Amino acid sequence: MTTRRRFLLTTAGVLLAGSGGLIRAVAAGDPLGPWTAAPTALDPDPRLRALGWAVLAPNPHNRQPWLVRLSGTDSLLLFCDLDRRLPVTDPLDRQITIGLGAFAELFRMAAAAEGLAARIEPFPDGVPAQRLDARPVARITLGPGGVADPLFVAAPTRRSAKRPFDTARPVPAGALAALAAAVPAPLRFGAATTPETVAPLRDLAWAAWQTEAMTPEAHGESVALMRLGAAAVAAQPDGISVWGPGIEEMVARGELTRDAMAAPGRPGFQVMLDRYRAIFDATPAMVWITSPGSGHAAAFAAGQAWLRLNLAATAAGLSLHPISQALQEYPAMAPHYAAAQARLGEGGTVQMLGRLGTAPPVPPTPRWPAATRIVGA
Ligand SMILES: Cc1cc2nc3c(=O)[nH]c(=O)nc-3n(C[C@H](O)[C@H](O)[C@H](O)COP(=O)(O)O)c2cc1C
Repeated sequence: MTTRRRFLLTTAGVLLAGSGGLIRAVAAGDPLGPWTAAPTALDPDPRLRALGWAVLAPNPHNRQPWLVRLSGTDSLLLFCDLDRRLPVTDPLDRQITIGLGAFAELFRMAAAAEGLAARIEPFPDGVPAQRLDARPVARITLGPGGVADPLFVAAPTRRSAKRPFDTARPVPAGALAALAAAVPAPLRFGAATTPETVAPLRDLAWAAWQTEAMTPEAHGESVALMRLGAAAVAAQPDGISVWGPGIEEMVARGELTRDAMAAPGRPGFQVMLDRYRAIFDATPAMVWITSPGSGHAAAFAAGQAWLRLNLAATAAGLSLHPISQALQEYPAMAPHYAAAQARLGEGGTVQMLGRLGTAPPVPPTPRWPAATRIVGA
C-alpha cells in the first residue's frame, strides 16, 4: 500500500473518529469526564450541580464560550468568554450566543429536575447593539417551584450527530410533531421531510459548506481549532477533537497535521470533502428554527429552543446535525445566506438549520469541567 493511500484511509478513520468514532479514554484530565460527573454530582450547591449539566450544551465548534460568576446564594451571572468567539464565521457573535442560550436552558432543566425553578433574565444590563461585550449574557436565579421537564431525560445522550443518516428510514410524523412542540412561540419550527423538499435545501447547505471550505480564512478558523490526538484533546478539551484508535501513531509520525487539512490539494482536504459529501447525501429530513426578529436576544432564545429540539429528537430516537454554513454572516457566504433567508426566513431570521434522521449512537464530545468555567467576582 502506498504511503498516500495509507494516509487517506487512515485519515478517513481519523475524521470519522473525530466526529464520534471509537474514543480512547484518557486517564488524566479525562475530556469526557464532565459527561459522567453531571449525573453523579454531590455538590451541596444546586447551582454547581446544574452547571455540571449546562456545560454539556451544544455550541459552535465546541468552543464552550461560557463563563459563570456565582452571586449571593441563589444566583449567577453568565458571561461570554470573549476570547472563545469565532470572528471569521460568526462575525456578529450570533452563533456563540445561541450556544449560550442552549447552556442556560440546560441549566434550567437540570435545576427543574431537582424541583428548583431557574429564572433566566437574558442581558440584564442591556443587549449589546453590535458584538457581545463584557456585560452578562444572562442572570439566572434559583428558587422553589421547578417542574421537571420530560425532555431532560435525553440530556445524557444528546449529541450533534455528524454522520450519514439512514435514507431508508423517513422521519415519523409523530416524532416531527414532538419536535415542533419543543420549539416555543414566537420562534418558528420548520421541516422538510420529502425528497423533493429536502433536495434543494440540502444542495444549498452543501454549496455553502463548500464555500466555507474554499474560503481560506473561514476554513482556517476550523483548522486552527483542531485538537489532533488524545494528548491535545486532554490539554484542550474543546474545539474540533480528532482522536481515537490509530490516531496517536499518525500524530507521532507527523502524518496527521493541520497542514494536511489546510487547503485544496493537501492530502487530508479531499478526504474531508468526500466524507462530508456522503454525509449531506444521506439526509432524509431537514429542520430549522426561525426567529421573528434578529439580534442577541433572539439568538439566545433560539439557542434555548435548539437545545430543546435536540433533546426532543434524541427522545424520539432521532439524530440531529446542525449545518450552519449557509446562515453565517461573512462576505463570501452572502449569496447562500440570502438564499437561505429568502427560502426559510418568513421575514425573520433563520437561526439554526439541521439534518435530521436516524444513525447509530454517537459518543459524546469533550468538555472542560464546569469548575474551570467559574470566575471570581
Ligand atoms: C450555533 C451552533 C452551530 C453549529 N454549527 C455546526 C455546523 O455547522 N456543523 C456541525 O457539524 N456542527 C455544528 N454544531 C454542533 C457543534 O459542533 C456541537 O454542538 C459541539 O461540537 C458539541 O458537540 P455535541 O453537540 O455533540 O455535544 C453547531 C452547534 C451550534 C450550537
